[in-house]
Amino acid sequence: MKEDKVLVFLREQKGAFVSGEEISKKLKVTRAAVWKDIQVLKKTGYEIEAQPHLGYRLLGAPDRLFADEISHGLKTRVVGKSIISYDTIGSTNDAAFRLGEEGVAEGVCVLAEHQTKGRGRLGRSWQSPKGNDLLFSVLLRPKLGPSDVQKITLVAAVAVVKAVSQFAGIEAGIKWPNDIYYKEKKLGGILTEMSADSDRVKFVVVGIGLNINSSGGELPAGSVSLRDIAGKKLSRVDFARELFARLDADYRRLSEGLFDELSKEWEDLSVTSGRRVSIKANDRTVEGQAMGIDKDGALWIRKDNGIQEKVVSGDVRF
Ligand code: BTN
Repeated sequence: MKEDKVLVFLREQKGAFVSGEEISKKLKVTRAAVWKDIQVLKKTGYEIEAQPHLGYRLLGAPDRLFADEISHGLKTRVVGKSIISYDTIGSTNDAAFRLGEEGVAEGVCVLAEHQTKGRGRLGRSWQSPKGNDLLFSVLLRPKLGPSDVQKITLVAAVAVVKAVSQFAGIEAGIKWPNDIYYKEKKLGGILTEMSADSDRVKFVVVGIGLNINSSGGELPAGSVSLRDIAGKKLSRVDFARELFARLDADYRRLSEGLFDELSKEWEDLSVTSGRRVSIKANDRTVEGQAMGIDKDGALWIRKDNGIQEKVVSGDVRF
């Protein structure tokens, strides 16, 4: 839904009544147009009280991922500078990638209530019932070489875990390379894709899927949602705002050359380091103890024969 002037005006009143006449004067539209607009807003899920002699007041907003609900009060430098919100789309990553090819400025976030072709890592699909969770992609134009793009994914994973902790008081962890886990169950995932020349990244799309209000039974086996853990529904809009702010701050730290600090945070939040793992990487399996990540975001494994091996991508099993 695009920015609605009546809604913006009602929001500015911070819950106080305002008469239809005042709204129509302020916005230079007829009172009939104000009335019509209010009916549309109510139908969309906004809770608006109407009282004779007093007028209208806004009591609540629906937990829908409308662009102007999220951008309202968002103080970020890059992430979410513009927001595009779809009811249904194939994949938000594909949509953001197209925007990247069209030369759109970095920071644009594409959100959807539902994806018909949601994609995960390693050619998998990403499933989430309509209207429950957070599915979005952000377009970034980092000044990094193609081999450093993995850093963006690590930074995004750190931002997600911190946002979950700050917002819901839930201590999740990162399973290498970029799965968000809570007690052996998957809470979310990140799919980073890029367009690059041999030595230069043109743009990166970071796609994040996070289970917020679906219940475990509605999600693929082995998944969990914040609602399952917290025992109550959470506001996706508020969470999106928190996450955009975290992503923005940590992306800035990365741009300022502070990756070492961020990778230390990643290690602290990792549920992989120190554990015995089996990693399927291409057509082979590496087994041993996960030692930690290096400055490129690759995982080091100490195999049973004592030799250490670096793995750059793959699927971890504990
Ligand atoms: C994974 O764990 O395999 C990564 C999952 C990434 C899913 C998100 S949902 C929003 C964005 N759009 C997609 O098609 N995929 C990512």
